[in-house]
Amino acid sequence: MADTKNRLTTTAGAPVGDNQNAITIGPRGPLLLQDYQLIEKLAHQNRERIPERVVHAKGWGAFGTLTVTSTEVTKYTNAKLFNEVGKKTDLLLRFSTVAGEQGAADAERDVRGFSFKFYTEDGNWDLVGNNTPVFFVRDPYKFPDFIRTQKRHPRTNLRSPTAMWDFWSLSPESVHQITILFSDRGLPVGPQYMNGYGSHTFSFWNDAGERYWCKFHFKTQQGHKHYTNEEAGEVIAKSRESYQEELYGAIHEGRFPKWTMYVQVMTQEQAKHTSYNPFDLTKVWPHSEFPLIEVGEIELNKNPENYFAQVEQAAFSPSNVVKGIGFSPDKMLQGRIFSYADAHRYRLGAHYEALPVNQPKAPVAHYHKDGLLRFFADNGNPDAYYEPNSFDGPAQDPSYNEPPMEVEGIAKRWEQPVGDDDFVQPRALWAMFSDEQKGRLYHNLAAAMHGIPDFIIERQLGHFAKVDPAYAQGVRDALATLDKSEEDRETHKDVDRMAVNEPHKNTEAEAP
Ligand code: NDP
Ligand code: HEM
Repeated sequence: MADTKNRLTTTAGAPVGDNQNAITIGPRGPLLLQDYQLIEKLAHQNRERIPERVVHAKGWGAFGTLTVTSTEVTKYTNAKLFNEVGKKTDLLLRFSTVAGEQGAADAERDVRGFSFKFYTEDGNWDLVGNNTPVFFVRDPYKFPDFIRTQKRHPRTNLRSPTAMWDFWSLSPESVHQITILFSDRGLPVGPQYMNGYGSHTFSFWNDAGERYWCKFHFKTQQGHKHYTNEEAGEVIAKSRESYQEELYGAIHEGRFPKWTMYVQVMTQEQAKHTSYNPFDLTKVWPHSEFPLIEVGEIELNKNPENYFAQVEQAAFSPSNVVKGIGFSPDKMLQGRIFSYADAHRYRLGAHYEALPVNQPKAPVAHYHKDGLLRFFADNGNPDAYYEPNSFDGPAQDPSYNEPPMEVEGIAKRWEQPVGDDDFVQPRALWAMFSDEQKGRLYHNLAAAMHGIPDFIIERQLGHFAKVDPAYAQGVRDALATLDKSEEDRETHKDVDRMAVNEPHKNTEAEAP
């Protein structure tokens, strides 16, 4: 008999006598309804899945620390996690692809999510970024439509390159992000081999009540490593879990991945004079104008014990900021402040922040009481269950109030038409690529666009031409090479997830 410590019990704690044989009438059955342990086992199995994230469903995560290496940033922010060289803050970092479902292959060309939960002494700070410093669109109104084009076509249940390129070619502000996605950096070998970016413009504020605009950067110390489309095809043929293997394996073997954390800082006055909108998520701030300021080192050093509990149930929300860090007028960021907590309440339940992985390491005291996941029994002060009260319940602390944010203007649906400045930064990026990198960019773009309706190709080539005529010509030539080679087309079908397929041609080619 197992000793007490190792004894199997029911969920109600009663020791189980037999976990191998269901109760039946006679050795041949049938079953009895009273075999509650059988029913409970089957019922639990039916409830083992929760909805996957509506985007960024496939992910890999690990725990680690931020160690501060410079306090230069304390001129701008009183955020406690940055206030001392050598200070360590625990964190969870989850990487992900955007479009693929939970079972998708890891080595797919896609933007990668880069989500931090910093467990600071002032509560959790979630920095939910990507491995790209910019994004496809700059208005949250467009996000659900954009994501629709990345997911499956309602009839074919296949990814639709036609939908992707139709949307992108009708949203030319996406050309900067497209150029990154289809360049070498769009297909890293593993999570360790890419940079992370907070992407949005956030703000810092300090004890003097001053606000500064800022951007967050995380540069890989492992170096950038990428697959070509063809290499990724070979990887996926052998393993769909190559990122999980890379990350879990590295940490397991003590090869802890590291990134250097930097920020860029812009004064409110400077923001009035940049040639581009500094709150536009399709733009970076050039380093020459806004140099990187070192903050610290990120190290991942602990694999999760339980993937479901610690990665799948992790809930990251751009709305989680801490003293010294604030938002900005960036409308994409503003949209995200709503969206994530709403997603978590649906996916995990009302008290999702009480789940162990989401629990702050700082004391928590609020007045949200009942609902799903209300598994914390402590009432605190039971008479103080509303606020304000006369019974010494938790109360506000004005020292945590952030300084006012200056905004002005007329409320309306402001158009942000695509202008010349939308092509300036993609041009700077394209110009940085070597001839070989440009060749791979054209090849990757052609492979993804090949087979979609000509009018969409022409519209998209028009945008590439505005970046540089040679860019458009490079993609045009690569498309012609694919056209000539039926064999290439077949290969492409095998290796590229965004491959063209016959149903698109039959059902979508007649679009206006
Ligand atoms: P810099 O020369 O100062 O910086 C170039 C940046 O580009 C570095 O951050 C570098 O990252 C990154 N980079 C290098 N190769 C690639 C690549 N193949 N794909 C994507 N990024 C790459 O110039 P600017 O700051 O003026 O920026 C020029 C262009 O670089 C921008 O228009 C933008 O497209 C891109 N970029 C700019 C960033 C920024 O925050 N300013 C951030 C990332 C890209 P690393 O140091 O890790 O090699
Ligand atoms: C995940 C919405 C733009 C990065 C999600 C989720 C939603 C969402 C609903 C799923 C959350 C969950 O169930 O856990 C939006 C909206 C956007 C937007 C409405 C625009 C208005 C962005 C941008 C970035 C980004 C610009 C990066 C700069 C991520 C990441 C995740 C994610 C990394 C996965 C988080 C995790 O690891 O759990 N997004 N998103 N998103 N999003 Fe966004």
